[in-house]
Amino acid sequence: MNEAGLQMIRKIREAEAAAQEGVQKDPWRLKFHLMPPAGWLNDPNGLCQMNGVYHVFFQYSPFDPCGGEKFWGHYTSRNLTDWEYAGVPLAPDEQFDRSGVYSGSCLIKDGIMYLFYTGNVKLAGDFDYVTQGREANTVLVESRDGRTFGDKKLLLTNRDYPADYTLHIRDPKVFALEDRYYMVLGGRKKNDCGAVLLYESCDLENWRFCRELTVPMKFGYMWECPDLFCTGGKWFLSLSPQGLPRKEHEFQNVYTAGYFQVNGDFREGCRLEDFREWDKGFDFYAPQTFTDESGRTLLIAWAGLPDVEEEYVNPTIESGWQHALTVPRVIREQNGRLLQYPVPELEALRGERQEVRAGEAVYCAPAFDLIVPVDEKGGAGASGVKDSKLSITIADALRFTWDGKEAVLSFTDAVAGRQIGAGRGRTQRRALISGIQEVRILADTSLIEIYVNQGETVFTTRFYPMEDTRRLLVEGVYAKAGVLWPMCQETE
Ligand code: FRU
Repeated sequence: MNEAGLQMIRKIREAEAAAQEGVQKDPWRLKFHLMPPAGWLNDPNGLCQMNGVYHVFFQYSPFDPCGGEKFWGHYTSRNLTDWEYAGVPLAPDEQFDRSGVYSGSCLIKDGIMYLFYTGNVKLAGDFDYVTQGREANTVLVESRDGRTFGDKKLLLTNRDYPADYTLHIRDPKVFALEDRYYMVLGGRKKNDCGAVLLYESCDLENWRFCRELTVPMKFGYMWECPDLFCTGGKWFLSLSPQGLPRKEHEFQNVYTAGYFQVNGDFREGCRLEDFREWDKGFDFYAPQTFTDESGRTLLIAWAGLPDVEEEYVNPTIESGWQHALTVPRVIREQNGRLLQYPVPELEALRGERQEVRAGEAVYCAPAFDLIVPVDEKGGAGASGVKDSKLSITIADALRFTWDGKEAVLSFTDAVAGRQIGAGRGRTQRRALISGIQEVRILADTSLIEIYVNQGETVFTTRFYPMEDTRRLLVEGVYAKAGVLWPMCQETE
């Protein structure tokens, strides 16, 4: 890192140290989800495993919990449960990334880590910042040990992108296939359609534009964070599109994230089929996958969203931090759909197992793991709640219900138009689900992940319950007795 970068790092260390007290005593601080040491976090970046060590980099604005200039922060772990913060490896210290080290990915080859990212530059002046006034530079940094990072190499600049694109091009995801490397970049075209750019290389440094991956009809104006990957023998293109019209059961958030199945060989022309949303909750964006050393496809996403009002009212801001990542999820292909389920490593964090009977409220720890089997013929512990087939209330604040057709996740204390309560102004999210056999809820102080049917449908949501409302209630004629574990209990 150059002198300008080192100076920034010194300031970051000071900011992190100064924020510690506030962050540590925040009741909504997370116990097993990755959150920023100080300030703001967004996308997961550079996910990989090298020599047994998992690396999670992330978009990091350490000076302000409401965001700002972007750096990469870095966490490492050997087991996906004990994480160590490893500082800031990338700072905006060059001309070509001076307005921010934006998102990117990692490729491991011969024990070397190749990190690709977008160097964001915003020029000063009277520009629209769409077709003028910005640079999107694609940059490479290598690391042999995962701790020290080499010089930045500028690979692609505005001149290397096709003429029918605006200057919104970013988030390189790189992978190897046969004797080649491929890079996908997300983009916004001049006709205001989102699309992905595919590049090819033999040496990871010289890249040639191959083709565009998109759909015939406009599907949003910008595609961020593309990810082209193969799992279960099938190829998928994941992305975070912006500008999709909101529907009753789809695209309920300002922006969404989902995937197309890739029909045909992406190198020769292919069709993108059946876009499916990854997640139906309030907070999910910019997911990234990687293959770990045991061959699993794992996914981590930002459990948050850009450009929403909550980013100014989330209660953790007062404590000096904002946002978190989801837990790592194993991705499994099933009939062209991708199921997501928490990595089994997390089960090591479970405390003593407890049975939960339908209709009987229990105390739940701030972090817990709950599994409720569902039986449409009527559960053993059926409670007499009228009209309710399945209802799970968490901390008296958040309720998940299912009526046999539609699942609804709602904040029980929401007041229309007011950013108060456990949801800070959010109300409900809905999904059509024709059958439920099981619901698993992984809750961590202020972040909840609900997995229906082993990850067929998932809801990820931040919530901010009061400390004295830690009741959990499973009800409904379909609910059977469940099991509950406290997570991450402090040992005496
Ligand atoms: C997605 C995103 C990326 C960009 C990064 C900047 O949330 O907008 O497209 O690289 O965040 O932090």
